[in-house]
Amino acid sequence: MKEKLEQLKAEALDAFKRAEALSSLEALRVRYLGKKGELTAILKQMGKLAPEERPVIGQLANEVRTGIETAIESSRLLLEEKALEARLSAETLDVTIPGFRIPVGKKHPLSIVLDEVKDIFVGMGFSIAEGPEIELADYNFTKLNHGPAHPARDWQDTFYLTEDSRVLLRTQTSPVQTRVMETQSPPIRIISPGRVYRKDEVDATHSPMFHQIEGLVVDKNITMADLKGTLNAMVERLYGAGTKTRFRPHHFPFTEPSCEVDVQCFKCGGSGCPMCKSEGWIELLGAGMVHSNVFKACGVDSGVYSGFAFGVGLERMAMMRFNISDMRLFFENDMRFLAQF
Ligand code: PHE
Repeated sequence: MKEKLEQLKAEALDAFKRAEALSSLEALRVRYLGKKGELTAILKQMGKLAPEERPVIGQLANEVRTGIETAIESSRLLLEEKALEARLSAETLDVTIPGFRIPVGKKHPLSIVLDEVKDIFVGMGFSIAEGPEIELADYNFTKLNHGPAHPARDWQDTFYLTEDSRVLLRTQTSPVQTRVMETQSPPIRIISPGRVYRKDEVDATHSPMFHQIEGLVVDKNITMADLKGTLNAMVERLYGAGTKTRFRPHHFPFTEPSCEVDVQCFKCGGSGCPMCKSEGWIELLGAGMVHSNVFKACGVDSGVYSGFAFGVGLERMAMMRFNISDMRLFFENDMRFLAQF
């Protein structure tokens, strides 16, 4: 029996050494150590042994079992290592093959300037307000002190959505002023960016859809000096410290007094060039002190409060900021243009 055991051990160790796949190890384990395996078969004959021989053979049997178990374990480790090596060498990467670039999007130039403007005004304590693009004539015109025969109401200028001229695509962001004043009480400090629509032919400086940013401040003791200081701060932040502005008298139905604000030509510095049409100045925005009729229409007491408002074209700002000469570029989605920002 002793010989049988030793022979079994030698045979088993040899079998495990020669095993070539992890999957065959389990079958071998069952064959040698399983309940119906060869070791068990030998041990079943223990009963035939003389009592004094039993412990000796029992100990030997245990040694054989542990020996085989160790052999299984080391052969498993070896095969696993081999399998890993085979996988790694099959997976070899050629690090010299050029990679491919993932195209990364960019911010649209209008978004760049809009974000800058928002940042400037939020820094001065303004919040951002929004209003509908489909608007009532009441808000777009009437509450903003446009008389019933004001030329801007003309069907030739305004996209009306109903025959009765009650509903339209807003022609300016100023209706947001009226909506904010109707729903909030002073102090009010908002800017309101958004799309506006006018029946304009497309050319280098016109588009039937463009963007404005409206500004409105209402509080006690607001004066034209606050308007000038605020707009100068914006212009210097956008176009560089020391950039000069010029305030010209103008007319808007909803502000009194009203003005237009020009910025010194960024191209020639004011000496006159094709960009500023030899003027030295470029028109940037419209502004003024909120008209008392507008306050009245929105339920604000003009005996207590005063305010200023302004409206600036985003496309025009971006054209000046990036030296772009044709507004159509903003809307054509030409990657050669967009990728430059
Ligand atoms: N809404 C005017 C425009 O579209 C601009 C403006 C806004 C003027 C606010 C004065 C005050 O031209």
